[in-house]
Amino acid sequence: MGFPSNRPRRLRSSPELRNLVSETKVGVDDLIYPLFIVPGHGVKKEISSIPGQYQFSIDMLLEEMKSIEDLGINSILLFGIPEWKDASGSSSFTSDGIIQKALDAIKNTNSNLFTIADLCLCEYTDHGHCGHIVKDGEKFDVDNDETLKLLAKQAISLANSGVDMIAPSGNMDGMVKSLRTALDENSFKGLPIMSYSVKYNSSFYGPFRAAVESAPSFGDRSTYQMNPANKREALREVKEDLDEGADIVMVKPALSYLDVIQSVKEASNVPVAAYNVSGEYSILKHAAKVGLIDEEKAINEVLTSIKRAGADIIITYFAKYYAEKLKR
Ligand code: PBG
Repeated sequence: MGFPSNRPRRLRSSPELRNLVSETKVGVDDLIYPLFIVPGHGVKKEISSIPGQYQFSIDMLLEEMKSIEDLGINSILLFGIPEWKDASGSSSFTSDGIIQKALDAIKNTNSNLFTIADLCLCEYTDHGHCGHIVKDGEKFDVDNDETLKLLAKQAISLANSGVDMIAPSGNMDGMVKSLRTALDENSFKGLPIMSYSVKYNSSFYGPFRAAVESAPSFGDRSTYQMNPANKREALREVKEDLDEGADIVMVKPALSYLDVIQSVKEASNVPVAAYNVSGEYSILKHAAKVGLIDEEKAINEVLTSIKRAGADIIITYFAKYYAEKLKR
């Protein structure tokens, strides 16, 4: 008995054919590589909670950037670990702040990498929260409007240092609008904003907080990060950010929220980014190390799933590995 003639072919017979008909391809230029910058000289220190990732001093960052660019990666996302912290995170908006100094140094190289700065206070506040805190005994609250002022200062300061895009991650109300207004008024009309629009209150940030020493010293972030149970709320957040002028919207984390990425993609008319966060990375790394999974296959599968869900851009610690080993 022959096959019915209208039976669809399964186009899987050779790797070349499988690749030809693959519906989803992750390009190296879809990826943004996060980097952690620390004070000092000659520092390239592995981050124990995020194996294979490092804290770099500015001189070492410039070296690292060359190898990133050589691999065909276009964009980097900078996180700073400042020399000092205070209650209002002022080291995030001084012209000699860690990221400002890094941007100054990058300007003097011939790097074409697109530089994005994470815009938040949590790495710079001594209490580790993302905003200006008002305490009342054991209770505390984030002062939204005061925080917006501090974030606007940080945005202007980073723009003055030549950053290519800012990525506000503080989840304050009216944040994108307030940043857009501040940038426009200070002659940075063309500077794009990639907003962490949908930011869940997630356990998967654990390794990152150890890396930047930003675990809150009291309370948690549940008052200003989203409940993982909510998806329609995510769409409201995205709509707000789009109305306020976000150029790119982001979902974070990625893997437990692939359905959210898909819905956000359907609901928005701007590029959608997804943050494949530190916990998602480190779990896979540890599993691969003890031989539980095939590292290359797993990384490929993870990045493909995020792209397939609808992400145009993936922020991932796997960027270099992918570019080195899996680039096709
Ligand atoms: C906030 C920020 C965090 C991450 C990126 N930006 C921490 C948080 O939201 O608590 C997490 C990234 C990761 O886990 O890889 N500045």
